Amino acid sequence: MINRKILIEKYLKFFKSKNHKIIPNAPLIPENDPSALFISAGMHPLVPFLLGQKHPLGKRLVSIQKCIRTTDIEEVGDNCHHTFIEMLGNWSLGDYWKKNSIKYSLEFLTEILKIPKKEIKVTCFKGDKNSPKDIESEKIWKDLGIKKIEFLGKKENWWGPVGKTGPCGPDTEIFVKNIEIWNNVFMEYFQNKEGKLEFLKQKNVDTGMGLERTLAILKGYEDNYLTEIWMPIIKKIEEISKRKYSENKEITKIMRIIADHIKASVFILAEGIVPGNSEQSYVLRRLIRRAVRYGKKLNMKNFTISIAEPIFKIFENYEELKTNKKKILEELKKEEERFSRTLEKGLNRFQKFAKDKNELSGKQCFLLYQSFGFPIEMIEEECQKQKIKISKKDFEKANKEHQKISRTATAGRFKSGLADSSESTTKLHTAAHLLLQALKIILKKNSIVQKGSNITPERLRLDFSFSRKLTKEEIEKIENLVNAQIQNSCEVIRKEMPLKEAKKQGACGIFDKKYGDKVSVYSIGNFSKEICTGPHVKNTCELGKFKIIKEESVGAGIRRIKAILE
Ligand code: ALA
Repeated sequence: MINRKILIEKYLKFFKSKNHKIIPNAPLIPENDPSALFISAGMHPLVPFLLGQKHPLGKRLVSIQKCIRTTDIEEVGDNCHHTFIEMLGNWSLGDYWKKNSIKYSLEFLTEILKIPKKEIKVTCFKGDKNSPKDIESEKIWKDLGIKKIEFLGKKENWWGPVGKTGPCGPDTEIFVKNIEIWNNVFMEYFQNKEGKLEFLKQKNVDTGMGLERTLAILKGYEDNYLTEIWMPIIKKIEEISKRKYSENKEITKIMRIIADHIKASVFILAEGIVPGNSEQSYVLRRLIRRAVRYGKKLNMKNFTISIAEPIFKIFENYEELKTNKKKILEELKKEEERFSRTLEKGLNRFQKFAKDKNELSGKQCFLLYQSFGFPIEMIEEECQKQKIKISKKDFEKANKEHQKISRTATAGRFKSGLADSSESTTKLHTAAHLLLQALKIILKKNSIVQKGSNITPERLRLDFSFSRKLTKEEIEKIENLVNAQIQNSCEVIRKEMPLKEAKKQGACGIFDKKYGDKVSVYSIGNFSKEICTGPHVKNTCELGKFKIIKEESVGAGIRRIKAILE
């Protein structure tokens, strides 16, 4: 009987037999990529390699990648869209092209998963003024005996770039029982800043297969939530709420939303993110609070940690869930309590506003939302419940404002595009390596490790383990040491080697994170050696003057430095 574990094993084994190397499931928070909050596709950690950098594991790769998709949080609740998903993917980095890609996919589906050919339908790109109709894929499918082929436009059959710029191309999508389960993208283009397509150095294949959907189809379910990766969570909700998942459409939807949001929250918390008001923390807060709000509709209270419990069992292969379980549950509980207090305060204020008048103004509505964190949707619900009038126009205005804010905070992070390996981010990236080494030397602590890094074209941000504030003198010494390396014109050299060798050579890296067996190591003169995917400058003389602009604490035992190059 198929299950999640077996499906993953079959996929990896199949592509291994086609000479693909398994790459690790990367952390959910993209490293050194300020353009996105979360990894949203298996290709995301591979962008430098799709652009032509050599991957240490070769040209054929396969992975299972955890992803968070936040663009449609509001749409969660149907049978097949989720915030957290696992994506099975295989890649050709300038190696095989359409023929093998399609052949492998079909072979996997029909021979390994035993899906009859006649149940398979595919779509191909119909072409537009910038890129031709994909008759090559059509012919390959036909020759392989697939009859149901449809041509669609850019909206359906084009993938990427994830941001404004980056690798992209036409795709062919595979449907089983009318559900799209696999997407094979033929990435031969790079979309530049002007929105124009240029040919990439190499033709890549990027595929993504949705694990949740595929599993449901193989089990004969029309609802992903009936599979074993959701059902234990739904059962827990049923148990606590004493309601039935199948009771009616509304209850089904509410239970799906709660299960979805708590699952995604557990995975985000496992990355060390805590609920807050910006970036990933804000998404996390929104997910937890939405789950709590929907929980209220089922009369559930203090329920998030009980619902989270089965998630640790379903995903027991994720070390980060195991290691951080206590903290994850603590944070969930705290946020649920915080939100309950917010609601209480908001409700009190609501009563005050509405007292005697039986009416709420747009201004009051804003105040409840902005100063008391009282969700707009709940204001509307409360008004309905208590038969209080609210001007529809005012309400819509408030609601629009709310949507605008949350959209910018969640989805709208694609300022510069996924492939923002611009000159300035590349320079800052090299400067970050120099900084880490300088910290170890000046603070006389070789055990300092990087706890996070985020680089935008304007500045670098490095989080590192250290327990106290740095003195002014220390900061000055660190700046001087980094600047000395810049003036020394150190060469930056990249070498590929087995992970063991990298460790032996003393390269720093985050060793609790899973690397592949082979890694690339960047050395900067004799000064620094780090496991890293790059990109970096060729020589430190390109960097300019290094300057620390901020040093602060970001939690127990972790300091943060922001620095620029002048
Ligand atoms: N990157 C492609 C997707 O996410 C495969 O659908």
